[in-house]
Amino acid sequence: MDKQPDIFRRPLVDVQGIPVFWSMAEEWSQVESFEARPDDLLIATYPKSGTTWVSEILDLIYNSGDAEKCKRDAIYNRVPFMELIVPGFSNGVEELKVMPSPRLVKTHLPVQLLPSSFWKNNCKMVYVARNAKDVAVSYYYFYQMAKLHPEPGTWQEFLDKFMTGRVAFGSWYDHVKGWWEKKKDYRILYLFYEDMKEDPKREIHKLLKFLERDLPEEVVNKILYHSSFDVMKKNPSANYTTAPKSDMDHSVSPFMRKGISGDWKNQFTVAQYERFEEDYEKKMKSSTVKFRSEI
Ligand code: A3P
Repeated sequence: MDKQPDIFRRPLVDVQGIPVFWSMAEEWSQVESFEARPDDLLIATYPKSGTTWVSEILDLIYNSGDAEKCKRDAIYNRVPFMELIVPGFSNGVEELKVMPSPRLVKTHLPVQLLPSSFWKNNCKMVYVARNAKDVAVSYYYFYQMAKLHPEPGTWQEFLDKFMTGRVAFGSWYDHVKGWWEKKKDYRILYLFYEDMKEDPKREIHKLLKFLERDLPEEVVNKILYHSSFDVMKKNPSANYTTAPKSDMDHSVSPFMRKGISGDWKNQFTVAQYERFEEDYEKKMKSSTVKFRSEI
């Protein structure tokens, strides 16, 4: 049966001032009471910042570079999206309950909404951040193809929503700043998408060190190969083509779209760029976190 009128393209609903999918807001108590385990590894990101990329790398690390094992299931099942609760479609909390340890857990929540059990258990967390302009562009195309989001409107309209934080998971600015602050007190490895593009091997080594794991160099090279954009784009277990078409329409825009830094230059007008930069300065001056918008 076509579920489209019921679950897709519905307005976002606020949880503590953060816009999220309507059904997540309705089922928020399930998310809030999520029981983290001490050996969980949390992958936290603002949407479109390299979540799938780092998830694939981490699953490859957990499986010692065995790419065949990593094809056992789609990335969204290997690394469940904790707070994604949509009736008849997905329940990350339930999926994780039955998953054996050690679990890789995906979240897009800003720090203040993260279930408290993660902090209490002092779980390790990997945060990946990506420069705001590339995120805005990637998110615009994703809104068009992934129907759980409301309609994005024009690029100008979407950019206005992005800048005011009226998009799913709220303000990019508050998200990256919030997690940057938390890393002072918790076991958080804060990575940047641009660094991963510049030197992915170096970033894989950072992950290994953080996880206190050691892998032979040839295994690291295998992980590098299997997590490259071109290989992941062709891998049905990593590229989201196995998700129902009613949810994600890759003919509108593929999930694995371009995978580059600096694509914003193809999207922003000069006027949009100038307005964005002026506003960015104001929003980001309170933080020491610094981004590169191209490499
Ligand atoms: P673009 O839309 O700019 O191409 P997320 O997984 O957080 O939703 O992020 C998706 C973005 O990461 C998309 O960006 C996607 O192409 C990019 N991406 C996914 N895998 C990648 C990889 N292996 N290398 C580089 N970029 C990747």
